[in-house]
Amino acid sequence: MAKKKAWGGRFEGGTDRFVESFTASIPYDIQLYRHDITGSIAHVRMLAKQKIVTAAEAAAIEKGLLAVLEEIAGGKVTFDLADEDVHMAVESRMTQKVGAAGGKLHTGRSRNDQVALDLRLYLRDAIDETVGLLGVLRTRLVERAEQYFGVVMPGYTHVQRAQPILFSHHLLAYHEMFTRDAERFADARRRTNVSPLGAGALAGTTFPLDRNFTARTLGMDGVCENSIDAVSDRDFALDFLHAASVTMMHLSRMAEEMVFWSSTEFGFLSLPDALCTGSSIMPQKKNPDVAELIRGKTGRVYGNLFNLMTIMKGLPLAYNRDMQEDKEPVFDSARTVRDCLIGATLLIEGMSVDEQRMRDACDDGFLTATDLADYLAKKGIPFRKAHEITGKVVRYCEAEGKRLKDLSLAELKKFSPKVGEDVRDAISLSHSVKMRNTRGGTGPDAVRKRLEALKSK
Ligand code: ARG
Repeated sequence: MAKKKAWGGRFEGGTDRFVESFTASIPYDIQLYRHDITGSIAHVRMLAKQKIVTAAEAAAIEKGLLAVLEEIAGGKVTFDLADEDVHMAVESRMTQKVGAAGGKLHTGRSRNDQVALDLRLYLRDAIDETVGLLGVLRTRLVERAEQYFGVVMPGYTHVQRAQPILFSHHLLAYHEMFTRDAERFADARRRTNVSPLGAGALAGTTFPLDRNFTARTLGMDGVCENSIDAVSDRDFALDFLHAASVTMMHLSRMAEEMVFWSSTEFGFLSLPDALCTGSSIMPQKKNPDVAELIRGKTGRVYGNLFNLMTIMKGLPLAYNRDMQEDKEPVFDSARTVRDCLIGATLLIEGMSVDEQRMRDACDDGFLTATDLADYLAKKGIPFRKAHEITGKVVRYCEAEGKRLKDLSLAELKKFSPKVGEDVRDAISLSHSVKMRNTRGGTGPDAVRKRLEALKSK
């Protein structure tokens, strides 16, 4: 027969073994033990302040909880399925130490508001860690953009060479994305850092709790205003899973570029040996696995978002046991986004850049065709017409096997009498980049300005 349950009063006989293991969350929610104990300490201090328990009882319970915390942290205690979940496990272990008074901890509280609190506290930490790691990655991107300032590469649309850009500008594009990601997490944190404690099972409690006191003790910004919502809401977790998904999407795009930029075909980058692995059959191989796995792990993080979205969509108010399934997707996304941020930071730190190869890639593909069209437009030809003329120039080059810069002045003049001596400079690579100094553009003045602004932050 299974262990006696804390809720066993109304039950005759034990729980079926299968049901015990099917319903238990202890194997994974034990991860919440710190947050669970932190929440319980705040709760019991409030109970004492409100004279619901005596100061001595509260002190004994707090001491007991801290002892359990140490035991778990030290790996000194293992729980089994009969312990059901982290809340039951911690409470019963504490009560073993404290005696009957331990049974007072749960006064005015339900596991429904307790678990909502634990998840909020867990996510608050996860968010802070993630925002910190995003900060490190962003700093590295700025450092690399500074280091490679002036290096020109092809910018792409449709994976076709489009216009020359500064490599720094490309790196800083990711910086912008990761900045918005950090903002998204910070926004999720605001809604997460609100205390549900005091909602009880769903309707509030008959004890004179001071909800503000508990919230303040926990460093939370406020309390949930509706007890039913407080125990039913998992939006805050969905906000986190969404922010994690968008971050992974950005990391995945960056990883994808690292994969093909480090290929022989591109050769723009090489990744350090320490971040690559070999093939068991092809001795020459050095594979960009870290980047590939960042790209690959994006799938599970998206999946976790849809997992919880789906769990929640059909649930009537208030708490339903389905909601126990919220934890594994949250834990998995928190861990995955953390690991991928660490991996991406190592890649950015470790990559070396082949500046020559990047510049050479600008030579083919008519990257300055837009500049020729702009040149003609500046000479008074309407842009649409200038575009058409330039298109013909490109067709001519293709037929002759020439690059734009191989064309003589005489050849160019045949396309338009407006072409003058200054055309050579206008369609040169460096000129093309140099001229794009609109705010947010790839011109060195514009990029320098952004770089300085980011460095001063
Ligand atoms: N382990 C449960 C969960 O994670 C705790 C809340 C249980 N509440 C209940 N009424 N059975 O959701």
